[in-house]
Amino acid sequence: MKTVFVTGADRGVGYCLCEDFLEGGWLVIAGQFMPDWPELSELRKKYPDSLHIVPLDVGSTASVEAAAAETAKLVDHVDLLVSCAGIARGADYDVYNVNVAGTLRMTECFLPLMQTGLKRLAYVSSECGSISLSHREGGAYPISKTALNMLVRRMFRVLQPQGYTFRLYHPGWVRSYMGGQKSTVGNFEPEETAAVAYRQFVTDREAEDVLVMTDVSDEMWSY
Ligand SMILES: NC(=O)c1ccc[n+]([C@@H]2O[C@H](COP(=O)([O-])OP(=O)(O)OC[C@H]3O[C@@H](n4cnc5c(N)ncnc54)[C@H](OP(=O)(O)O)[C@@H]3O)[C@@H](O)[C@H]2O)c1
Repeated sequence: MKTVFVTGADRGVGYCLCEDFLEGGWLVIAGQFMPDWPELSELRKKYPDSLHIVPLDVGSTASVEAAAAETAKLVDHVDLLVSCAGIARGADYDVYNVNVAGTLRMTECFLPLMQTGLKRLAYVSSECGSISLSHREGGAYPISKTALNMLVRRMFRVLQPQGYTFRLYHPGWVRSYMGGQKSTVGNFEPEETAAVAYRQFVTDREAEDVLVMTDVSDEMWSY
């Protein structure tokens, strides 16, 4: 049984990824940011043996360290880390802290648990971070995704030679909760894009020595 840790697992794409991993027979450790949101607790009733819920605020180093320590009590290693937590609203500092620094601190704190096993790191980013394709107005969100893409690129350069494999995924325009409530506009339900992400995250590639950003249509994007 392989183990995955998922951030941003309370709802939206991260939650649907947890469902997919559980259905695929994985042991899932879900980072819970919203203890009052019921979906993860309901899911645990269906998968009491293979879903663990761990408190997690990727914006806090202390919280990420505590989540890593809690994870180390549950499993001897993590095969796959899925960094899905992201925000588009709020103060610019918070957007950068969650989307960029949060992703870095998650990777740094969980790498010691990933020295064996699948050694795969998966990041949910966005086409809006692509410098060459950018067509949006300002705001911290697209800048944070540009920084995330560069961060992943730098980590790939260091960690791929050590046997780590990478996924960088653009989920498309999703009817999720980034606006604070379930969106009524967008091209995909969270379930649809999570199903594609799951397949891409668990499937080996021939060319693991190349970092690509892929989307819900399996197309490659310039990042
Ligand atoms: N939705 C889209 O159209 C779209 C497009 C491109 C890329 N993406 C990316 O896809 C990923 C998943 O987004 P989504 O659409 O599924 O959004 P979502 O429905 O808002 O889900 C994200 C989850 O992460 C949580 N979260 C926020 N801050 C966190 C923190 N500090 N620590 C841990 N979890 C935290 C959110 O809680 P709150 O609800 O309280 O914030 C929410 O439960 C994000 O990285 C996003 O940037 C989304």
